[in-house]
Amino acid sequence: MDLELHGPEPTEDERAAIDAAIGPPVDDARSVVGVAEAARRRPLLLPALHAAQARVGWVSPGALAYVSRRLHVPPAEAYGVASFYALYALHPRARSIAHVCDDIGCKARGADALCDELGARLGPAGSQHGGAGWMRSPCLGLCEQAPVALIQHAGAPAREGALGEATADRIVQALGETERTPEAAPAVVHQDRANLTLLARVGLVDPTSLDDYRARGGYRVLRRALDRGGASVLHELTVAKLAGAAARRFPPRASGRPWRRSPRVRTTSCATPTSPSPAPSKTAC
Ligand code: FES
Repeated sequence: MDLELHGPEPTEDERAAIDAAIGPPVDDARSVVGVAEAARRRPLLLPALHAAQARVGWVSPGALAYVSRRLHVPPAEAYGVASFYALYALHPRARSIAHVCDDIGCKARGADALCDELGARLGPAGSQHGGAGWMRSPCLGLCEQAPVALIQHAGAPAREGALGEATADRIVQALGETERTPEAAPAVVHQDRANLTLLARVGLVDPTSLDDYRARGGYRVLRRALDRGGASVLHELTVAKLAGAAARRFPPRASGRPWRRSPRVRTTSCATPTSPSPAPSKTAC
């Protein structure tokens, strides 16, 4: 792929943060890299954007262009990814931000009242004063601790942490403590673990250790599937008559066997594992 990018440049700070995340540039002289090399770099798109934002608080046009150039990702595609996720900012904003979830789980546990109180104390969502601000956020994935707020302090080092069962007092305090990493909310399980399958290991496993995950029964079903073999697994899927969300993960085929492997489609750089786009393009960009 040959990308000739001209335009805004990153600041030294942004460049250093991005290089630290994806490695120093070694072939900037090469404007052409193969499809395989471009595909190898593509998964670094999210970490690179995250690094830029964590350093300065937003993804500037210069940072976006530099990431595109380094990873050989078309700028439009990098922009598409950055603009898809609510946690990325494409315009300058305060270096300390509280993302306050007002999605359904948190709404049921007082998120609206929390946002009203923050609005009264800090100004409307999206406003910023003295380097700090707050904004509403979609689900942060900690619904069992609702209402939840994610606190981010940009800088070197950047600091980030989620507040479970958040209150306006704790959010305001955390926004002011820029030199302190907000304490991560411990996982909470409200049901008897003996009755849980999907969430049975929540809060017990060290999330940074695959060994710990395996030791507590992680991948047990995958191991069983591998031992039984493909034919047996396909048979089990057939008799299970998948429906609802589970079935939608396997697009139906004319064969009537929704999970059957589809023929390999030749994709180009338009397809990315990090892209929010549901379907890779079959044609050249
Ligand atoms: S609904 Fe608020 S964290 Fe999920």
